[in-house]
Amino acid sequence: MDQKTNKNLSSIMVIFGGTGDLTRRKLMPALYNLVYDDLLPEHFAIVSVGRRDIDRKEYIDSVYKALKEFSRNEILDEHWARLKECIYYYQLEFNDKDRYKDLKVFLDELDKEKHTGGNRAYYLAVAPDYFQTIVKGLDSSGLSKKEGSSWNRLIIEKPFGKDLKTARELNNSLLDVYTEEDIYRIDHYLGKEMIQNIMILRFTNPVFTALWSNKYIDNIQITIAEDKGIGTRGNYYEESGALRDMVQNHILQTLSLVAMEAPVSLTMDAIRNEKQKVIQAIEKFTPEKLRDNVVFGQYDKGLIKGEPVIAYREEENVDPKSNIETFVALKMHINNFRWYGTPFYVRTGKRLGVNQAEIVVQFKALPNILYFEQTSQEPNLLVIRIQPKVGMRMYFNTKDFQTHNDIISMPMETSYESPTQGNTPEAYERLIYDMLRGDATLFSRWDEVESAWILAEPIIKYRESKEQNFPNYHAGSMGPLKAFELLANDGRKWWNI
Ligand code: BG6
Repeated sequence: MDQKTNKNLSSIMVIFGGTGDLTRRKLMPALYNLVYDDLLPEHFAIVSVGRRDIDRKEYIDSVYKALKEFSRNEILDEHWARLKECIYYYQLEFNDKDRYKDLKVFLDELDKEKHTGGNRAYYLAVAPDYFQTIVKGLDSSGLSKKEGSSWNRLIIEKPFGKDLKTARELNNSLLDVYTEEDIYRIDHYLGKEMIQNIMILRFTNPVFTALWSNKYIDNIQITIAEDKGIGTRGNYYEESGALRDMVQNHILQTLSLVAMEAPVSLTMDAIRNEKQKVIQAIEKFTPEKLRDNVVFGQYDKGLIKGEPVIAYREEENVDPKSNIETFVALKMHINNFRWYGTPFYVRTGKRLGVNQAEIVVQFKALPNILYFEQTSQEPNLLVIRIQPKVGMRMYFNTKDFQTHNDIISMPMETSYESPTQGNTPEAYERLIYDMLRGDATLFSRWDEVESAWILAEPIIKYRESKEQNFPNYHAGSMGPLKAFELLANDGRKWWNI
């Protein structure tokens, strides 16, 4: 992370959804870790807004419990004391218009007390149904207004719309109140260390810069596999499915960083322009193309780490005949000069056999001469490990010292888990810190979101238009058989590294 500037970071961060899961698991631990790393400004307050009728002390106790459970750093008294003094709780029903005026009075007073200069960050960590209601409340009460030279930002969680139409409607309603530069659309994958490392890897290492195209790369695979199920999010997931939940955002954002051209500078617009071009260059999906290039799955019961788990259709708040996909595998083509002919295979799913996100770049084989006549060899692979292990692995061919002539594939490895490199910051730490600094590079710009919807919508419609043969994979497996055939038909395979 950058050095602390403290200059313009003084602010009140108002979290709508203060008693929700995201705040407990991610936002509060991230704020604590920012205190730990001395990155929060001196003049700072956090106002958690929730519907529950609890007092400040009860709220603070619940935050402490959450930190104990979810913080990556241990909870030290001095840091906790610092965070605790920043935290306030404000009870409000999101659709109670009058209460926003009361909230304004409360925040204005707090602003004076804490010397936060009128700067405000409103974080919508709530179900999407409330996004527009809350923004209207901010608008009508004057909470969204900038006073003098102060800043006023809106941070909005995904899902950003349900489809292109609703995303546009949502965006327009936000633009009635905020300007694009003050809207921070979260895609927390962009905050992950290795996702940020993709550009550094590509644009500072001549070995990779030189080889990064269809000339040397056979295919690229992106896997975001989760062993967890949908938990208590049945209602949300029945509306979303893996396409909306993961592909339209995390997968496409990751893919655009892997495939983009070098930006003209490191400014946020220069980077976002290049990412946007990649999404636009992805070959459009027609129903005919989709027939051969997409595989949907839904998990059946099975075993995760040896423990039995139920099928998706048996989960709480899920239709027992649900046609929703919990797995997607997709083959994509980027029709530009750099990538024409090099397929991108992506897959993501719930209740898979591993909990792992990674990118595998498979390089092309050399001509079939010399050593290739004697033995078959593995291709060079670059594995970018996003989580749970964080680092890179490069597989290359070398002599097997045990035998006379054999050639084996060996990994060279960097890992950020080694004690010298410490534990890596969580995505939300980076994102909150960047937002406070006014740097939106790691947030999605509207045109990126829009292009991603334009691309994803035909796939969603295609899935909805067909009765799926679900469930079609067992929990604990790596998805439906067809996902393996997708690559096998091209003479390739998924690399499980
Ligand atoms: C969220 C999805 O955006 O990302 C979840 O809504 C998913 O369904 C999660 O589990 C994965 O994030 P991470 O950081 O755990 O890989």
